Amino acid sequence: MALQVEFRDVTKAFPGTPPAVDRLSLTVEAGTILALVGPSGCGKTTTMKMVNRLIEPSSGDIVLGDTPISRMPVKELRRMIGYVIQYVGLFPHMSVAENIAIVPRLLGWNKPRIDARVDELLTLVGLVPQTHRARYPRNLSGGQQQRVGVARALAADPPVLLMDEPFGALDPITRVRVQDKLLAIQGKVRKTIIIVTHDMDEAIRLGDKVAVLRAGRLVQHEAPVDILRHPKDAFVAELIGHDRLVKLLSTLSVASVMSADAAPADTPSINRAATLEGAFLRMLDTGSDALAVEGGGSLHIRDLLRVSTG
Ligand SMILES: Nc1ncnc2c1ncn2[C@@H]1O[C@H](COP(=O)(O)OP(=O)(O)OP(=O)(O)O)[C@@H](O)[C@H]1O
Ligand SMILES: [Mg+2]
Repeated sequence: MALQVEFRDVTKAFPGTPPAVDRLSLTVEAGTILALVGPSGCGKTTTMKMVNRLIEPSSGDIVLGDTPISRMPVKELRRMIGYVIQYVGLFPHMSVAENIAIVPRLLGWNKPRIDARVDELLTLVGLVPQTHRARYPRNLSGGQQQRVGVARALAADPPVLLMDEPFGALDPITRVRVQDKLLAIQGKVRKTIIIVTHDMDEAIRLGDKVAVLRAGRLVQHEAPVDILRHPKDAFVAELIGHDRLVKLLSTLSVASVMSADAAPADTPSINRAATLEGAFLRMLDTGSDALAVEGGGSLHIRDLLRVSTG
Protein backbone atom coordinates (compact mmCIF):
# COMPACT_ATOMS: atom_id res chain seq x y z
CA MET A 1 0.00 0.00 0.00
CA ALA A 2 1.13 3.54 -0.72
CA LEU A 3 -0.50 6.92 -0.10
CA GLN A 4 -0.26 10.23 -1.90
CA VAL A 5 1.43 13.06 0.02
CA GLU A 6 0.29 16.58 -0.82
CA PHE A 7 1.87 19.78 0.48
CA ARG A 8 -0.71 22.58 0.43
CA ASP A 9 0.84 26.01 0.67
CA VAL A 10 3.08 24.97 3.56
CA THR A 11 5.20 27.57 5.35
CA LYS A 12 7.50 27.13 8.33
CA ALA A 13 8.97 30.27 9.83
CA PHE A 14 11.27 29.93 12.84
CA PRO A 15 11.34 33.11 14.93
CA GLY A 16 13.68 35.84 13.76
CA THR A 17 14.73 34.31 10.40
CA PRO A 18 13.28 34.24 6.88
CA PRO A 19 10.91 31.24 6.39
CA ALA A 20 12.80 27.91 6.30
CA VAL A 21 10.04 26.62 4.01
CA ASP A 22 8.07 29.19 2.07
CA ARG A 23 4.62 28.45 0.60
CA LEU A 24 5.48 24.96 -0.61
CA SER A 25 2.84 23.28 -2.76
CA LEU A 26 3.54 19.96 -4.41
CA THR A 27 2.10 16.46 -4.70
CA VAL A 28 3.99 13.21 -4.40
CA GLU A 29 1.89 10.60 -6.16
CA ALA A 30 1.28 7.30 -4.38
CA GLY A 31 4.00 4.74 -5.06
CA THR A 32 6.52 7.22 -6.50
CA ILE A 33 9.84 8.63 -5.34
CA LEU A 34 10.29 12.36 -4.89
CA ALA A 35 13.90 13.51 -4.60
CA LEU A 36 14.16 16.76 -2.68
CA VAL A 37 17.40 18.49 -3.60
CA GLY A 38 19.08 21.76 -2.73
CA PRO A 39 22.03 23.26 -0.86
CA SER A 40 22.60 23.13 2.89
CA GLY A 41 20.03 25.14 4.82
CA CYS A 42 17.46 25.35 1.99
CA GLY A 43 14.75 23.65 4.08
CA LYS A 44 14.93 19.96 3.14
CA THR A 45 14.97 18.48 6.64
CA THR A 46 12.35 20.97 7.82
CA THR A 47 10.10 19.85 4.94
CA MET A 48 10.53 16.18 5.91
CA LYS A 49 9.95 16.76 9.60
CA MET A 50 6.67 18.51 8.90
CA VAL A 51 5.38 15.31 7.24
CA ASN A 52 5.63 13.32 10.46
CA ARG A 53 4.95 16.36 12.62
CA LEU A 54 8.31 16.53 14.34
CA ILE A 55 7.89 20.15 13.21
CA GLU A 56 4.47 21.81 12.90
CA PRO A 57 3.93 24.14 9.92
CA SER A 58 3.31 27.84 10.61
CA SER A 59 0.60 27.74 7.95
CA GLY A 60 -0.73 25.43 5.28
CA ASP A 61 -1.26 21.69 5.63
CA ILE A 62 0.00 18.34 4.41
CA VAL A 63 -2.54 15.80 3.22
CA LEU A 64 -1.84 12.08 3.44
CA GLY A 65 -4.20 10.21 1.13
CA ASP A 66 -7.43 12.12 1.87
CA THR A 67 -6.61 13.18 5.41
CA PRO A 68 -4.92 16.42 6.48
CA ILE A 69 -2.21 15.36 8.94
CA SER A 70 -3.18 18.19 11.29
CA ARG A 71 -6.35 16.19 11.96
CA MET A 72 -4.61 12.87 12.61
CA PRO A 73 -3.40 11.76 16.03
CA VAL A 74 0.41 12.05 15.89
CA LYS A 75 0.88 8.43 16.98
CA GLU A 76 -1.31 7.13 14.19
CA LEU A 77 0.40 9.40 11.66
CA ARG A 78 3.91 8.23 12.61
CA ARG A 79 2.83 4.61 12.37
CA MET A 80 2.14 5.27 8.69
CA ILE A 81 5.56 6.78 8.03
CA GLY A 82 8.99 5.15 8.04
CA TYR A 83 11.76 7.62 8.73
CA VAL A 84 15.43 7.21 7.84
CA ILE A 85 17.15 10.10 9.58
CA GLN A 86 20.15 12.12 8.47
CA TYR A 87 23.36 10.28 9.59
CA VAL A 88 21.64 6.84 9.93
CA GLY A 89 20.88 7.00 13.66
CA LEU A 90 21.02 3.30 14.52
CA PHE A 91 21.08 2.72 18.26
CA PRO A 92 24.65 1.56 19.00
CA HIS A 93 23.76 -0.49 22.05
CA MET A 94 21.15 -2.51 20.18
CA SER A 95 21.83 -5.36 17.77
CA VAL A 96 20.77 -5.13 14.13
CA ALA A 97 17.69 -7.24 14.89
CA GLU A 98 16.74 -5.08 17.89
CA ASN A 99 17.13 -1.90 15.86
CA ILE A 100 14.84 -3.21 13.13
CA ALA A 101 12.33 -4.49 15.71
CA ILE A 102 11.81 -1.13 17.48
CA VAL A 103 8.51 -0.19 15.85
CA PRO A 104 7.04 -3.72 15.70
CA ARG A 105 7.79 -4.02 19.44
CA LEU A 106 6.04 -0.71 20.11
CA LEU A 107 3.10 -2.07 18.14
CA GLY A 108 3.03 -5.15 20.40
CA TRP A 109 3.81 -7.80 17.80
CA ASN A 110 4.66 -11.23 19.25
CA LYS A 111 8.21 -12.57 19.06
CA PRO A 112 7.77 -15.11 16.24
CA ARG A 113 6.18 -12.42 14.06
CA ILE A 114 8.97 -9.93 14.87
CA ASP A 115 11.71 -12.49 14.19
CA ALA A 116 10.17 -13.44 10.87
CA ARG A 117 9.83 -9.78 9.87
CA VAL A 118 13.45 -9.00 10.81
CA ASP A 119 14.71 -11.87 8.66
CA GLU A 120 12.45 -10.90 5.78
CA LEU A 121 13.69 -7.29 5.87
CA LEU A 122 17.37 -8.21 6.18
CA THR A 123 16.97 -10.39 3.10
CA LEU A 124 15.14 -7.59 1.30
CA VAL A 125 18.01 -5.13 1.86
CA GLY A 126 20.57 -7.74 0.82
CA LEU A 127 21.97 -8.79 4.21
CA VAL A 128 22.14 -12.41 5.37
CA PRO A 129 19.94 -12.81 8.47
CA GLN A 130 22.08 -15.51 10.12
CA THR A 131 25.22 -13.38 9.71
CA HIS A 132 23.87 -9.94 10.56
CA ARG A 133 20.94 -10.31 12.98
CA ALA A 134 23.02 -10.38 16.16
CA ARG A 135 25.74 -7.92 15.15
CA TYR A 136 26.04 -4.39 16.51
CA PRO A 137 26.03 -1.35 14.23
CA ARG A 138 29.75 -0.64 14.88
CA ASN A 139 30.59 -4.03 13.36
CA LEU A 140 28.93 -3.18 10.05
CA SER A 141 30.27 -1.17 7.12
CA GLY A 142 28.72 2.23 6.45
CA GLY A 143 26.67 0.87 3.54
CA GLN A 144 25.41 -2.05 5.64
CA GLN A 145 24.40 0.35 8.43
CA GLN A 146 22.45 2.44 5.96
CA ARG A 147 20.67 -0.66 4.66
CA VAL A 148 19.74 -1.60 8.24
CA GLY A 149 18.38 1.96 8.57
CA VAL A 150 16.20 1.34 5.51
CA ALA A 151 15.08 -2.05 6.90
CA ARG A 152 14.16 -0.41 10.21
CA ALA A 153 12.09 2.25 8.47
CA LEU A 154 10.23 -0.43 6.51
CA ALA A 155 9.61 -2.64 9.56
CA ALA A 156 5.91 -1.96 10.10
CA ASP A 157 5.26 -1.76 6.33
CA PRO A 158 4.35 1.95 6.35
CA PRO A 159 2.82 3.40 3.17
CA VAL A 160 5.16 6.41 3.28
CA LEU A 161 8.93 6.50 3.69
CA LEU A 162 10.96 9.62 4.48
CA MET A 163 14.71 9.38 3.91
CA ASP A 164 16.94 12.29 4.92
CA GLU A 165 20.31 12.04 3.15
CA PRO A 166 20.35 8.29 3.80
CA PHE A 167 23.45 7.67 1.70
CA GLY A 168 25.37 10.86 2.48
CA ALA A 169 28.25 9.16 4.27
CA LEU A 170 29.05 6.57 1.59
CA ASP A 171 31.90 6.46 -0.92
CA PRO A 172 30.74 6.95 -4.52
CA ILE A 173 30.87 3.25 -5.51
CA THR A 174 29.04 1.94 -2.45
CA ARG A 175 26.60 4.78 -2.83
CA VAL A 176 25.59 3.77 -6.34
CA ARG A 177 25.25 0.16 -5.18
CA VAL A 178 22.97 1.13 -2.28
CA GLN A 179 20.96 3.42 -4.59
CA ASP A 180 20.43 0.48 -6.95
CA LYS A 181 19.38 -1.63 -3.99
CA LEU A 182 16.82 1.01 -2.97
CA LEU A 183 15.40 1.08 -6.50
CA ALA A 184 15.18 -2.74 -6.51
CA ILE A 185 13.41 -2.66 -3.12
CA GLN A 186 11.04 0.03 -4.36
CA GLY A 187 10.25 -2.20 -7.36
CA LYS A 188 8.91 -4.73 -4.86
CA VAL A 189 7.33 -2.58 -2.15
CA ARG A 190 6.07 0.49 -4.10
CA LYS A 191 6.04 2.98 -1.23
CA THR A 192 5.59 6.71 -1.52
CA ILE A 193 9.14 7.87 -0.83
CA ILE A 194 10.50 11.34 -0.17
CA ILE A 195 14.29 11.28 -0.23
CA VAL A 196 16.43 14.27 0.63
CA THR A 197 19.82 14.78 -0.95
CA HIS A 198 22.11 17.65 -1.84
CA ASP A 199 23.52 15.58 -4.69
CA MET A 200 21.78 16.24 -8.00
CA ASP A 201 23.15 12.99 -9.49
CA GLU A 202 21.47 11.03 -6.72
CA ALA A 203 18.23 12.98 -7.19
CA ILE A 204 18.24 12.22 -10.91
CA ARG A 205 18.98 8.52 -10.39
CA LEU A 206 16.38 7.94 -7.71
CA GLY A 207 13.56 10.39 -8.29
CA ASP A 208 10.49 9.78 -10.42
CA LYS A 209 10.25 13.53 -9.87
CA VAL A 210 12.87 15.94 -8.57
CA ALA A 211 11.98 19.00 -6.48
CA VAL A 212 14.66 21.70 -6.31
CA LEU A 213 14.52 23.93 -3.22
CA ARG A 214 16.35 27.20 -2.78
CA ALA A 215 16.08 29.21 0.42
CA GLY A 216 12.79 27.51 1.30
CA ARG A 217 11.20 28.05 -2.11
CA LEU A 218 10.35 25.44 -4.70
CA VAL A 219 12.27 26.38 -7.84
CA GLN A 220 11.44 23.44 -10.11
CA HIS A 221 9.45 20.20 -9.74
CA GLU A 222 9.60 17.88 -12.72
CA ALA A 223 10.75 14.49 -13.96
CA PRO A 224 14.55 14.16 -14.15
CA VAL A 225 14.66 14.27 -17.97
CA ASP A 226 12.62 17.47 -18.02
CA ILE A 227 14.87 19.13 -15.44
CA LEU A 228 17.90 18.07 -17.46
CA ARG A 229 16.36 19.33 -20.68
CA HIS A 230 15.13 22.63 -19.34
CA PRO A 231 16.74 23.77 -16.08
CA LYS A 232 14.48 26.55 -14.89
CA ASP A 233 17.27 29.01 -14.11
CA ALA A 234 21.01 29.42 -13.57
CA PHE A 235 20.72 28.02 -10.02
CA VAL A 236 19.25 24.72 -11.22
CA ALA A 237 21.74 24.58 -14.10
CA GLU A 238 24.59 25.03 -11.64
CA LEU A 239 23.26 22.25 -9.38
CA ILE A 240 23.17 19.94 -12.42
CA GLY A 241 26.71 20.88 -13.46
CA HIS A 242 28.54 21.28 -16.75
CA ASP A 243 27.83 17.71 -17.91
CA ARG A 244 24.08 18.24 -18.20
CA LEU A 245 23.83 16.62 -21.64
CA VAL A 246 25.83 13.57 -20.57
CA LYS A 247 23.46 13.18 -17.63
CA LEU A 248 20.53 13.50 -20.01
CA LEU A 249 21.98 10.74 -22.21
CA SER A 250 22.53 8.55 -19.15
CA THR A 251 18.91 9.04 -18.08
CA LEU A 252 17.32 8.02 -21.39
CA SER A 253 17.21 4.48 -22.77
CA VAL A 254 17.90 3.30 -26.31
CA ALA A 255 14.28 2.12 -26.46
CA SER A 256 13.00 5.67 -25.83
CA VAL A 257 14.44 7.14 -29.06
CA MET A 258 15.27 4.22 -31.40
CA SER A 259 13.54 3.75 -34.72
CA ALA A 260 11.95 0.59 -36.12
CA ASP A 261 14.19 0.75 -39.23
CA ALA A 262 16.45 -2.25 -39.68
CA ALA A 263 20.18 -1.53 -39.38
CA PRO A 264 22.52 -2.49 -42.25
CA ALA A 265 24.26 -5.88 -41.93
CA ASP A 266 27.38 -5.95 -39.73
CA THR A 267 26.32 -2.87 -37.71
CA PRO A 268 27.47 -3.14 -34.06
CA SER A 269 24.60 -3.97 -31.73
CA ILE A 270 23.22 -2.59 -28.47
CA ASN A 271 20.59 -3.69 -25.96
CA ARG A 272 17.37 -1.67 -25.98
CA ALA A 273 17.60 -1.21 -22.20
CA ALA A 274 21.07 0.39 -22.48
CA THR A 275 21.37 4.12 -21.83
CA LEU A 276 21.99 6.57 -24.64
CA GLU A 277 25.28 7.37 -22.98
CA GLY A 278 26.26 3.71 -23.41
CA ALA A 279 25.05 3.81 -27.01
CA PHE A 280 27.05 6.96 -27.77
CA LEU A 281 30.20 5.44 -26.27
CA ARG A 282 29.63 2.31 -28.35
CA MET A 283 29.39 4.46 -31.48
CA LEU A 284 32.65 6.23 -30.60
CA ASP A 285 34.27 2.94 -29.72
CA THR A 286 33.28 1.18 -32.94
CA GLY A 287 33.46 4.20 -35.27
CA SER A 288 29.90 3.47 -36.39
CA ASP A 289 27.22 6.17 -36.70
CA ALA A 290 24.47 3.60 -36.26
CA LEU A 291 23.75 0.65 -33.97
CA ALA A 292 21.50 -2.37 -34.47
CA VAL A 293 19.15 -2.76 -31.52
CA GLU A 294 19.02 -6.34 -30.27
CA GLY A 295 15.61 -7.81 -31.03
CA GLY A 296 15.00 -5.41 -33.96
CA GLY A 297 15.23 -1.73 -34.87
CA SER A 298 18.15 0.66 -34.92
CA LEU A 299 19.64 3.77 -33.38
CA HIS A 300 21.32 6.43 -35.49
CA ILE A 301 23.55 9.23 -34.24
CA ARG A 302 20.89 11.63 -35.62
CA ASP A 303 18.52 10.26 -32.96
CA LEU A 304 20.92 11.53 -30.28
CA LEU A 305 20.96 15.04 -31.70
CA ARG A 306 17.28 15.44 -30.91
CA VAL A 307 17.29 14.41 -27.25
CA SER A 308 18.17 17.75 -25.71
CA THR A 309 15.02 19.34 -27.10
CA GLY A 310 12.83 16.26 -26.41
N1 LIG B 1 14.76 24.72 15.26
C1 LIG B 1 15.17 25.72 14.47
N2 LIG B 1 15.19 27.01 14.88
C2 LIG B 1 15.57 28.00 14.07
N3 LIG B 1 15.97 27.83 12.81
C3 LIG B 1 15.99 26.58 12.33
C4 LIG B 1 15.60 25.46 13.13
N4 LIG B 1 15.70 24.33 12.36
C5 LIG B 1 16.15 24.73 11.16
N5 LIG B 1 16.32 26.09 11.13
C6 LIG B 1 16.77 26.88 9.98
O1 LIG B 1 15.94 26.59 8.87
C7 LIG B 1 16.69 26.54 7.68
C8 LIG B 1 16.46 25.20 7.00
O2 LIG B 1 17.03 24.17 7.79
P1 LIG B 1 16.99 22.63 7.31
O3 LIG B 1 17.53 21.82 8.43
O4 LIG B 1 15.62 22.34 6.86
O5 LIG B 1 18.01 22.66 6.09
P2 LIG B 1 18.50 21.47 5.14
O6 LIG B 1 18.09 21.83 3.76
O7 LIG B 1 18.05 20.16 5.67
O8 LIG B 1 20.10 21.60 5.26
P3 LIG B 1 21.25 20.47 5.31
O9 LIG B 1 21.49 20.07 3.86
O10 LIG B 1 22.42 21.19 5.86
O11 LIG B 1 20.79 19.32 6.17
C9 LIG B 1 18.13 26.81 8.07
O12 LIG B 1 18.41 28.16 7.83
C10 LIG B 1 18.16 26.49 9.55
O13 LIG B 1 19.15 27.26 10.20
MG1 LIG C 1 19.05 18.50 6.50
